[in-house]
Amino acid sequence: MSRIYEFTVEAPPGDIITYDPVRLADAMRIDDPSRLAIEAMGSRALVTVYPSDPLADVRLPDPALLEMDERGRIWIGRYHNGRKVYVQLYDPASGSAQRLLVFGTTGAGKSTLAQIILAAMKRSGIATFYGDLKEGQSAPEALRNVDWPTRSQEGVMAQLHATWCVMKDRAARYAAAGRSKFLRDRPDPLLYMVIDEANRLLEKGAPYRDLATFYIKDIGRTGRSLGVGIALLAQAGHLDELGGSDTMRAMLKEGEVLLLRWTSSMMQQLVADGLLSPGQKLAPIPKRAGATRLISQFETEADDERPGTQGTGYRISGPYPGAKMRAFNVGGPVPTEGLDPEMLALYGDGPHACLEKAAWPVAGGAYVERLDGEAAYAAAFPKATGSTETTVARSPAPGPGQAAPGAARLTIPDRVQAALEAADGEMDAHALLEAVNADGGRPVKLGSIRNALIDLHRTTGPKECP
Ligand SMILES: Nc1ncnc2c1ncn2[C@@H]1O[C@H](COP(=O)(O)OP(=O)(O)OP(=O)(O)O)[C@@H](O)[C@H]1O
Ligand SMILES: [Mg+2]
Repeated sequence: MSRIYEFTVEAPPGDIITYDPVRLADAMRIDDPSRLAIEAMGSRALVTVYPSDPLADVRLPDPALLEMDERGRIWIGRYHNGRKVYVQLYDPASGSAQRLLVFGTTGAGKSTLAQIILAAMKRSGIATFYGDLKEGQSAPEALRNVDWPTRSQEGVMAQLHATWCVMKDRAARYAAAGRSKFLRDRPDPLLYMVIDEANRLLEKGAPYRDLATFYIKDIGRTGRSLGVGIALLAQAGHLDELGGSDTMRAMLKEGEVLLLRWTSSMMQQLVADGLLSPGQKLAPIPKRAGATRLISQFETEADDERPGTQGTGYRISGPYPGAKMRAFNVGGPVPTEGLDPEMLALYGDGPHACLEKAAWPVAGGAYVERLDGEAAYAAAFPKATGSTETTVARSPAPGPGQAAPGAARLTIPDRVQAALEAADGEMDAHALLEAVNADGGRPVKLGSIRNALIDLHRTTGPKECP
C-alpha cells in the first residue's frame, strides 16, 4: 500500500469526539499506530492513514534555513502531513519577544530541540544566555555558540539576575527615549535566557527556587516588550513542580508551548487549565514506533529493534495543536568522542550576537567575565556571599520597582580601591582578595573582587564581544 487515506469524521452537532488511538488503530487493522494521525476538534476529526510512519526521519535540508524569517519565526520540524512547524521568537508587529516552554519526559528529545533553537538564535543575531543544569552535558556544542553559557544552578541564577537587570535598564532607557516598543537591533538585539533541565532549578527543595521563580515570572511578564525572551525546557509530571503552578500557567497561556513525550498528569493539567479542550485528546507518543505483534514461543525470536520516537510531539500553542509533529533529527547518527561536527555545523562558523554594550555595566561582572558557578553567584549577589547563601536565596523576592538582591554592591569596589592604593606594586585578584579580607570588613569571595575590578575598569572589560 503506498496511498495516503484521509477521512473526515463528524459526530452529531454538540457531541465531542473522543477516541483511544490504540483501539482505533486496532479496529482499523493498522498494526503500526505511527501510521495513523488523528486530529480531533469538537465534533469533527481528521483521520489520516499513511503507508509508513510519516515522521520516521525528519531532516533539516540546510542549517542556513534555521534563520528567523521576516515574521520572527524559526523552522524546527515538520507535521505528519509534511507542513512546516514554526516557533515564533519575535513578533515584528508588536515588537515583542516570546516565552517558550518545551516539556517532555527524560529522553524525549528536549535538548536536541534546544540545539535547534539555540542554533536558530545564533543565526538570527539573538544574544543568548544559556544555562544547562545537566552540568553542560545536554548540548555541549551550544556552549561555544551562545553569548554566555553556564552549567550550574549558581550560574543560572547569575544569568537570571543579569537578564532581569538588563530588562530594567532597557525599560528606563526606552522610556527616556520616548519609545513605546522594542525594535529589533535598533539598536539592541533580542535577548533570550534559555534554561535546559529547568525542573532542577524550580522543583520543590531546590536551593534557589523562590528567587528563580520571581525572575522567571517577571521576565516572562515584562520582558516581552523590551526584547527579552525566556525559554525553558523541562521534564515535569505536574506544573506545581515548576516553581508553583502560577508561574508556568501564565507562560503556558500566552507562550509557545511544545509538548514532547509526556506524563498523564501533565496532560490532565493542560486540559484542566483550558489549554486543551477535553475533545482534543492528543494521541500519546509511545517510546518506540513501529508495529508490535504477538510472537509465539514456537517462532524464532525476531530481532526487533524498533525506532525511537524522540523529538515527536505537539506544538499545542499553534494553529494545529492536535497535529503530530517531529523536530528535526539533527547531529551525527552515532555519538562522537568530542563535539559532534554535524551539530557544530548547525550553528555555523559565524560569530554569535552579544548583549548591547550599553547594558554591560548593569549585567555586571558575572556577564562581562562570563562567569559560572560560585564565582558567577558571588559576582551577581555579593551581599549573599560570606554570609549564608541560602538565607538570601530563600528570602522574599523583590517586588516590582524594588532593587534586585545584590544591586546594592556599593562597598566592595571602595575596599578594592583602598587595597590597591595601599599596595606597593601591582596586585592580581588573589592578592587583592587577601588584602580586602584582611581589612576587617565583611568577608568577600574572589568573584566579588573580580566584579569590583570590572566596575573600576569598566571601559577595558576583559572579554570583548566578537
Ligand atoms: N527529532 C529527533 N529525531 C531523531 N532522534 C532524536 C530527535 N531528537 C532527539 N533524538 C535522539 O534522542 C536522544 C535523546 O535526546 P535528548 O538528549 O535531546 O533528550 P532529552 O529530552 O533532552 O533527554 P534528558 O531528559 O535525558 O535530558 C538522543 O540520542 C538524540 O539523538
Ligand atoms: Mg536533555
